[in-house]
Amino acid sequence: MDEIKRILQLREELHQHNYRYYVENSPVISDQEFDFLMHELQDLESKHPEMADANSPTQRVGSDLNNEFETVAHTRPMLSLGNTYNRQEVADFWQRVSEGLMGAPFQICCELKFDGLSISLHYEDGCLVRAVTRGDGAQGDDVTANIRTIRSIPLRLPAGGDYPRQFEIRGEVLMPWSSFDRLNAEREQDGEPLFANPRNAASGTLKSKNSSTVAKRGLDAYLYYLLGDGIPGDGHYQNLEAAARWGFQISKNMRLVSTLDEVFAYIDYWDKERRNLPVATDGVVLKVNSLAQQKSLGMTAKSPRWAIAYKFQAEQAETTLRQVVFQVGRTGAVTPVANMDPVQLAGTQVRRATLHNAEVMASLDLHVGDRVLVEKGGEIIPKIVGKAVPPAPERQKTTDKQRSTAEGKVNCQLTTDTIQNSRIKFVEYCPVCGSKLVRYEGEAAYYCPNETECPPLILGRIEHFISRKAMNINSFGPETVDDYYHRGLIHDAADLYELTEEQIANPFATDRKGVRKILASIEQSKQVPFERVLFAIGIRFVGEIAAKTLARYYGSMEKVAEASLESLTQINGIGEAIASSIIRYFANSVNRAFVERLRGYGLQMEIGEQQKQARSNKLEGQTIVISGVFQHHSRDEYKALIEQHGGKNVGSISAKTNFVLAGENMGPAKLEKAQKLGIRIMNEDEFLSLLET
Ligand code: IVH
Repeated sequence: MDEIKRILQLREELHQHNYRYYVENSPVISDQEFDFLMHELQDLESKHPEMADANSPTQRVGSDLNNEFETVAHTRPMLSLGNTYNRQEVADFWQRVSEGLMGAPFQICCELKFDGLSISLHYEDGCLVRAVTRGDGAQGDDVTANIRTIRSIPLRLPAGGDYPRQFEIRGEVLMPWSSFDRLNAEREQDGEPLFANPRNAASGTLKSKNSSTVAKRGLDAYLYYLLGDGIPGDGHYQNLEAAARWGFQISKNMRLVSTLDEVFAYIDYWDKERRNLPVATDGVVLKVNSLAQQKSLGMTAKSPRWAIAYKFQAEQAETTLRQVVFQVGRTGAVTPVANMDPVQLAGTQVRRATLHNAEVMASLDLHVGDRVLVEKGGEIIPKIVGKAVPPAPERQKTTDKQRSTAEGKVNCQLTTDTIQNSRIKFVEYCPVCGSKLVRYEGEAAYYCPNETECPPLILGRIEHFISRKAMNINSFGPETVDDYYHRGLIHDAADLYELTEEQIANPFATDRKGVRKILASIEQSKQVPFERVLFAIGIRFVGEIAAKTLARYYGSMEKVAEASLESLTQINGIGEAIASSIIRYFANSVNRAFVERLRGYGLQMEIGEQQKQARSNKLEGQTIVISGVFQHHSRDEYKALIEQHGGKNVGSISAKTNFVLAGENMGPAKLEKAQKLGIRIMNEDEFLSLLET
């Protein structure tokens, strides 16, 4: 069979297998067979680039360079819902609806409130054409490329279904608990900060610029709102049933009810049962089922009158606060942590809770011996949300007695200035090394600034240095770093390059394979490209992307170290905070000596030959605006290319602009302005061939 026909056939087959898997729950082939067909299609598509199709099942795997989010206006505003934690208000809602409908009978569709982020999907002729985040409700980010990687979202609906030619369907993108746990375990291993809950993880993932990352993270989606002209009928519930037939994942736990008692029964049932669901939920949503009745009830400025969200109470328990200790994290952030009498909460025994930061702690006005309320909400770590208020006389008695005994305990654990009239105060000095704490602009946390001497910070820096995205020294993890540090073998990451087999081998072990593996992976890291070395040395605020930009722009560590604030801030993507942090880093002689030692051990301190050759001054003195969506490179890559060739990328068009590098769907305002000023508009191919000549 010819290859083109085979591509079309494979796409059709894979779409059908997806449908059988996700909608009918009855796959007819194994995962392995599925992957096999997918690989065949991938191979054929790479041989036939002319057959590219954004809705091919292969697009599920994502790509590394497709992502720039354009802001797009919603066709219909994405409103939020009125919220309540209170049953009386649910009854009031029922009453208001009933009155609003002048006593006419109505049904309520009860649904789970999924705790993720809302998404609007647009379909035309059965194909997914656009996916937009809620944003501010009027406009959101176009995240289509990322959404395409979510396997439960159909890219193409089966032909011949009774769906309208154009429609919108909204729902929630979520990270199931299983994916969330796996992701956090990986991040812990890599020394990366953990996500507090599945919602944050889903939102961080969906905003990723790299859709192959999204594909790996196992997001899921439930759809709960069908909109558009020509949707099947007047019933919201029935419309979702139709959407389920078309291939969308619709919750099986929706119920149509006709009485308030049934609403409460639904709430009570799910308040308990939700713990057994594979995804996080934080309440139920109640919606008037008839679209005609919805229309007649209408909207307030912010939310529809025909729907309300009832939020589940986070589970709370009451216990006694015994002590507050201050933990210094690997980034230097100081977190107050409460030690309490053990108490049962959401199925586990809890004795520690976070107080987040100085502000939260101050607002709680805590004293040792206080009865406090602990809550376990969407976050994994329990938190103290307030004080329990016992009857007045009893309170006096217990707190006085408890305070006097517990004070000593805290006093000897911490510095004396944490307590003043027994109110617990935030520390001013690092409880580990004694440095005065600092606060960075815009951040709630206090930090220990002693990056080169305070043990937890040193450990954090070494862990960061060896992590996968930095030097990728993957033969050992945080425990080994701790061990080497405490045995006095390493004081900073440069010491890793002086470790010997004798030092790290267990004297009782006969087999030294493991030890050699460790030394080999340290040795191998000397080949890691410069941009990652720049990321690995741990300059505050210099993340992976900034390191890449800086490496490409300056070409060597020496040049980065010499760069002035002015030179740094004129680079796209390098703001004040990053620039001044770089200056501060290289002004510190300990850091400079550290970098020099790394140079001495043979780490890469400049960009590779190939990259060097790729640099030129072809765009010297040119000011260039980028607009639209590109095929060959991402927008960031074009920015870097411009900089590598001596040009300057700016955000808006003016008389000084030399040309506009335009992709598809260039913004209309920009186009008009460029035309008015007679500025050349260059497409991708023209731009790339300009650099090649
Ligand atoms: S309906 C106009 N149904 O909750 C009605 N929303 O507070 C639009 N949510 O922004 C929303 N589960 O992100 C609806 N079954 C559900 C939901 C749900 C979760 C989220 C959604 C929305 C927020 C409203």
